[in-house]
Amino acid sequence: MPATIVIGTQWGDEGKGKLTDLLAKDMNYVVRYQGGHNAGHTIVVGEESFALQLVPSGVLYPHITPVIGNGVVVDPAVLVDECRKLNARGIDTSKLVVSANAHLIMPYHYELDKLSERMLGRNKLGTTKRGIGPTYADKASRTGLRVQDMLDKDIFMQKLEVALHEKNAILSKVYNRLSLDIREIADLYLTQLAPQIAPMVQDSVGLIHDALEDGQNVMLEGAQATFLDLDHGTYPFVTSSNPTAGGACVGAGVGPMHITRVVGIAKSYVTRVGAGPFPTELTDETADILIDRGHEYGTNTGRKRRPGWLDLVMLSHAIRLSSVSEIALTKLDVLSGFDTINVCVAYDIDGEKYTKLPYQQAKFQVAKPIYEQLPGWSKDLESAKTKTDLPKEAVDYISLIEHYSKTKVSFVGVGPGRDQFVPL
Ligand code: GDP
Ligand code: IMO
Ligand code: MG
Repeated sequence: MPATIVIGTQWGDEGKGKLTDLLAKDMNYVVRYQGGHNAGHTIVVGEESFALQLVPSGVLYPHITPVIGNGVVVDPAVLVDECRKLNARGIDTSKLVVSANAHLIMPYHYELDKLSERMLGRNKLGTTKRGIGPTYADKASRTGLRVQDMLDKDIFMQKLEVALHEKNAILSKVYNRLSLDIREIADLYLTQLAPQIAPMVQDSVGLIHDALEDGQNVMLEGAQATFLDLDHGTYPFVTSSNPTAGGACVGAGVGPMHITRVVGIAKSYVTRVGAGPFPTELTDETADILIDRGHEYGTNTGRKRRPGWLDLVMLSHAIRLSSVSEIALTKLDVLSGFDTINVCVAYDIDGEKYTKLPYQQAKFQVAKPIYEQLPGWSKDLESAKTKTDLPKEAVDYISLIEHYSKTKVSFVGVGPGRDQFVPL
């Protein structure tokens, strides 16, 4: 019966891949419910590192059925390639299920993502250029193609013709680009990819409900994070889906009464990739230390992440939005060696103190962090196994987070490895 949601509480890259893999030991299904290959989820097992984009993070366990849910946007070429690379490393992907209702990322979505970013110029969002926004836009405007359409040539061609008619007009008349050739797209999607995708396509919703009714454990793995949520994030500097817990229900087709646990992943500091406001952002030598020690470069895009101190105003808001029942705090090891650690507990906005997130973006944009300062610690945490291995200052840091967020920290990450965590 029980379903667990794993979500990011910040701007992504909190360590969702690692946590999902960790919790997957006790699960039967791991379901991705939104986003696409804009995600990069890292799992480190011994000397090996896996950077997953579309395939759910439970895939490394043979007992898990990984599911790409209806809310995900899928580039079938990327999916086939990711499976091939995993297979080459000895990972079996034969149990992977793809929802028939998931929307397809098409070649024109990449073009439009890049062109609209270029058009925005210095106001660009800094997207991953993977066609995510344009694909979700077509889903909402009801001109999208879905995975199930790849299994019916006539329907696929009918829909593609309608969509391409409009897209080619935009590409040529708005952006002065060459039109895309319908035969080339059809050849790629129907002739080359459909036979490889077909065995994975299923009624994912029916499958998940059968599993829940059978008493099996289902985990819903978020991509991106709370403040990249289309509704609740720092709009317009967001992604085009809903990573928050409500999005998990929609994107997997599971009602809220099935959800018994929501694990909110928080990095011990904060990072952001792409443009947008960031109250606790650091640009001094502390930033360089965090980037260097935390290896803060995009998992798939390689872009340098913007670092900052932990923001408890945002974390508390994320907890509210998704009914987070416990926090998994990652990368605590990266904070070893600082004399003092700052934690944002409120904002100063035009001389006024805010302990809750302002709803007006213009205010958030100018919010100045009010910090509590804590003494740091020098001990290397990478081999910590239990709470008693953590220095008092680190335990105090965790207690402060629990105090302000009113939520228990149940795991602490002390290194990238699968075994590098401390249960609390
Ligand atoms: P995700 O997108 O939320 O899955 O996170 P990413 O995989 O993009 O980025 C998180 C990075 O931090 C990866 O390189 C992980 O291997 C690494 N990582 C995860 N947890 C820890 C931790 O507790 N300590 C350290 N040092 N690295 C971690
Ligand atoms: P994971 O799952 C961090 C950011 C992009 C950009 C914005 C919109 O690994 O945490 P998009 O391509 O989605 O239209 O870009 O969202 N972004 C991420 N940042 N981690 C991610 O995924 C992200 N996925 C998208 O940098 O600012
Ligand atoms: Mg990532």
